[in-house]
Amino acid sequence: MPSKKAAPRTSGAVVAEKPCSGQMVIRGGSVFTAADSFKADLLIRKGKIVEISECVSAAGPVEVIDARGLEVYPGGVDVHTHFDLPFMGTVSADDFESGTTAAACGGTTTIIDFVIPSKGRSVLEALETWKAKAAGKAVVDYGFHMALVEFNDQVAAEIPKVVAEGITSFKCFLAYKGAFMVDDLQFLGVLNAAKKHGALVSIHAENGDILAYLMKQLTDEGKTAAQYHPIAHPAAAEAEATHRGIELARMAGAPLYIVHLSCNEALEEVKAARCRGQLVLAETCPQYLLLDDSLYRGNGFEAAKWVMSPPLREKAGQEKLWQGLRDGFIQGVATDHCSFNFSGQKDMGKDTFLKIPNGIPAVGDRMNLLYTYGVAKGKLSRNQFAAVVATNPARIFGLSPAKGTIAVGSDADLVLFDPKKKGRISKATSRHRVDYSAFEGFELSGMAALVLSRGRVVSKDGAFTGTKGAGRFIKRSASDARQWS
Ligand code: URP
Ligand code: ZN
Ligand code: ZN
Repeated sequence: MPSKKAAPRTSGAVVAEKPCSGQMVIRGGSVFTAADSFKADLLIRKGKIVEISECVSAAGPVEVIDARGLEVYPGGVDVHTHFDLPFMGTVSADDFESGTTAAACGGTTTIIDFVIPSKGRSVLEALETWKAKAAGKAVVDYGFHMALVEFNDQVAAEIPKVVAEGITSFKCFLAYKGAFMVDDLQFLGVLNAAKKHGALVSIHAENGDILAYLMKQLTDEGKTAAQYHPIAHPAAAEAEATHRGIELARMAGAPLYIVHLSCNEALEEVKAARCRGQLVLAETCPQYLLLDDSLYRGNGFEAAKWVMSPPLREKAGQEKLWQGLRDGFIQGVATDHCSFNFSGQKDMGKDTFLKIPNGIPAVGDRMNLLYTYGVAKGKLSRNQFAAVVATNPARIFGLSPAKGTIAVGSDADLVLFDPKKKGRISKATSRHRVDYSAFEGFELSGMAALVLSRGRVVSKDGAFTGTKGAGRFIKRSASDARQWS
C-alpha cells in the first residue's frame, strides 16, 4: 500500500503524520552531503536509510516527517569529547548521559570520547572503565580513542588487543608534563606500534617543557591570576610541538592527526607538511574559530571559564582557520568538550591558574554555531559544513559509511536544520550540565530542528525526545585517512 500524501502545511513545520511504525519518510527536504545537494525524500527502515528518491512511497504504515523548507544533513560527528573524565583533581561535569543529550539536542549523533588510562595501569582495563561509564547512559552512538600516557612493553602488547576492540586511534599528549605527557622516544614507539596495527595516532600539540618553564617563571613573578594561563601557553609552543610531531610521524612513516589546532602558527606547519605530501590531518574547534583571547583580559577570575589548552588565541588568526577549513588543510571541527562548573571546579584555581581545570562545554553548540557562523555567514558552503562536522571526521576515524553521510545503507542519523529559525546560546537553555555557557549570548541564525539517531527522533526543536542508554558502542574500522594523502 503506498504511503498517504503529506497534507499541505506551512513549509518547514516538523510534523509526524502517524505514530512511529518502524518506517519513516523524510519528505521534501533539501539534502546536503559533503559531495551533493539535492531535493529528495528519504525512506528509513529499521534505523537505516533504504531509499533516496524524488518521491518515495512505502508499503505499510509509515511515519511522515514534512521536511519542506528544511535542510537535511548527516547527523553530526564530534570526534573529541571528554565526558566523566578525572582531570586536574576533579571530574568533568558532563557524563555520558548529559553530554550525549546535549550533543543530540544540538544535532550531533555520534561522539568519540577519550579513554585516558592512569600510568602503570592496563589500557584494556581502562577501556572497560570507560565502557562502563557510557553503557546505559549514552543517548547517541559513541566510540572511543585510546590515550597512551606512556609507552612500554605492556602497552605495546595491548595495542593490537585495543585495535581488535574497535579502538582504531590512539592519542599522545605532548603537553601536561608530569601527568599525561609522553617524551619523543615514547611517542615514536606509539607511532610505530599504531602503524603496525593500522591505527591512527593523534596528538595534543603543545610543548610541555616550554609550558612548564613558563608556568614556573610566571609563578615566581607572582603572576598567578587566570589571565596568565594563555601567557604560559604561547602559540610558539603549539607550533613547535606540531612541527616536532609531524617530523616524528614522518620518520615513522605514519599518518598523524592534530587535535584542537588553535592558531595559524600550527596551521602553517600542517600546510607545509601536506604540501610536501605528508599525510597530516587536523581538527579545529568552534572556540578557536569564534572566541578570542580578549576574554582573558579585564575579566578577573571570570577568565577561568575559558581556561583551556591550547588557550584562545588572537582574533586575527581566526580567519586563517576558516580559510584552512575551506582549503581542506583542516578537515574537521570537533569540540574538545570538557566541562567544569565555574563554581566548585574552575574556582579550585582561584589562587593560581595552574589549578584551574582545563576545558569548556561545547558539544551541544558546535552544529548550531558552525551553521550560523559558517554557512549563514558565507564562510562555508553547505557541502563544506556537512564535510567538516560529519563526513570527514567519520571517514578519518573509521565510522564510515554507517555514519557521517546520507546514503542508502547508512544509519539514519540525520539533522534537519531550519534555516529560518533564530535563537541565542544561553546557559538557561543549554543541556550541558554546567553552570555557565562558554558561548553565552551568541546569536543563532538557523538551528537544528529535528535530530534522528538510527531513525529515532532524539530531539525536536531543541528539546530532548530520546532515551537514556539507547546509544550503542561502535567498534570502529581502520581509519580511512589515506584518502586525504
Ligand atoms: O583544555 C582542554 N583541552 N581540556 C581537555 C583535555 C585536552 O587537552 O584535550
Ligand atoms: Zn588536548
Ligand atoms: Zn581534549
